[in-house]
Amino acid sequence: MSTLPTPHPLPAFDAQPSWRERLAARIDRWSTSPGLYRWALSWPLSRWVVRRRSARLFELMAGFVHTQVLLACVRLRLLETLLDAPRTLDQLVAQTGLPRAGLQRLLDSAVSMRLVDRRSGGRYGLGALGAPVAAHEGIRDMVEHNATLYDDMRDPLALLRDPGQAGMHTYWPYTPNQASVQAAPPATFTRYSALMATSQRFVIDELLTAYPFADHRRVLDVGGGMGGWVSALAQRHTHLQCDLFDLPPVAALAQDHVHRQGLGGRITTHGGSFTADPLPTGADLVTLVRVAHDHADDTVLHLLRAIHTALPMGGTLLLAEPMAQSGGQSPSDPYFHFYLMAMGSGQLRTPQALMALMETAGFTHIELAPNPMPLHAQILVGRKSRALSPDPEATTRLH
Ligand SMILES: C[S@@+](CC[C@H](N)C(=O)[O-])C[C@H]1O[C@@H](n2cnc3c(N)ncnc32)[C@H](O)[C@@H]1O
Repeated sequence: MSTLPTPHPLPAFDAQPSWRERLAARIDRWSTSPGLYRWALSWPLSRWVVRRRSARLFELMAGFVHTQVLLACVRLRLLETLLDAPRTLDQLVAQTGLPRAGLQRLLDSAVSMRLVDRRSGGRYGLGALGAPVAAHEGIRDMVEHNATLYDDMRDPLALLRDPGQAGMHTYWPYTPNQASVQAAPPATFTRYSALMATSQRFVIDELLTAYPFADHRRVLDVGGGMGGWVSALAQRHTHLQCDLFDLPPVAALAQDHVHRQGLGGRITTHGGSFTADPLPTGADLVTLVRVAHDHADDTVLHLLRAIHTALPMGGTLLLAEPMAQSGGQSPSDPYFHFYLMAMGSGQLRTPQALMALMETAGFTHIELAPNPMPLHAQILVGRKSRALSPDPEATTRLH
């Protein structure tokens, strides 16, 4: 029978440590002791734990390879092909033009990642994780778009030292300031708005499920992009009038979109900047979907105050975006931390941090509205139940 290995000695504590710190330090020593791994493998229960941890750690090390396998599948349109019908290796070689040996490796990798599944007769079909990718253009667009982020992250220390060098900066022209918006070519706005339009579908489903829009009369969506959300809302709740506010080039795209949907009579688009222009009034509900996380606290506070001013007494703000998950251990958190840093001035916030900003801006009765898939977005709701004394911050221009 193997004996327990001797752990590293405990560190020297500066002051009297709490029992938690002492316990954590003891666990650190045990878990890094050279003999522990071999000892743990000799017992069934600890072997199970070690195997799971090792597999998880290997996944962390292999993460880049996994994303590249997924990117290769997306670029080859492999998953959409398998959604049409399972295919043999030879059929896929003919379709993709890749050398047989290379494609075989890609398929073996995709099978182990559950993107692809082995079927009878040597054919390949769609795997459990490949199915949503094949079904949703928004996921495929994000996989392709992430290539820009991963280029920026090639040297993670360089990015941490100087996020201003990130290529992602030029993808999102509005993050630095008003001047960068004016200098950006029109195609930049079309490019990011198209990406937002396809990736917004998941958030729209969360919003429609989680909140009772029937009680409202008129909805203003600030930073509304091409109008996918207000269009879905107007189609679902036919009594609603809607407004959309976004930067002028994006508002123009939204106007085209809502007219093509036959919703021009119920959705009004407004071009402007929330850092410089007043928001349209008249709505009893303002929605802010995936906007706050793009901006620094001072800009978000300015925007929330402007929304408070634009709402009538009793009006509501609904803020939805990906937020830091409780405990800070969600696999999505590192993605958003780095994405928003590479993008410019934004940050991933906890629901509590956003609630504090909403409260400072004057909102009351602030609560988290539970929704089925918090990974896509979490939803905060706040009311305007009192007028604020005039605040110079709310009316001055930020940039
Ligand atoms: C990440 S996108 C989200 C778009 C949409 N709400 C969605 O969920 O797909 C942020 C939106 O905020 C808009 N935006 C950024 N800065 C703005 C500003 N200063 N004034 C108005 N809109 C702004 C952008 O043009 C963009 O459409």
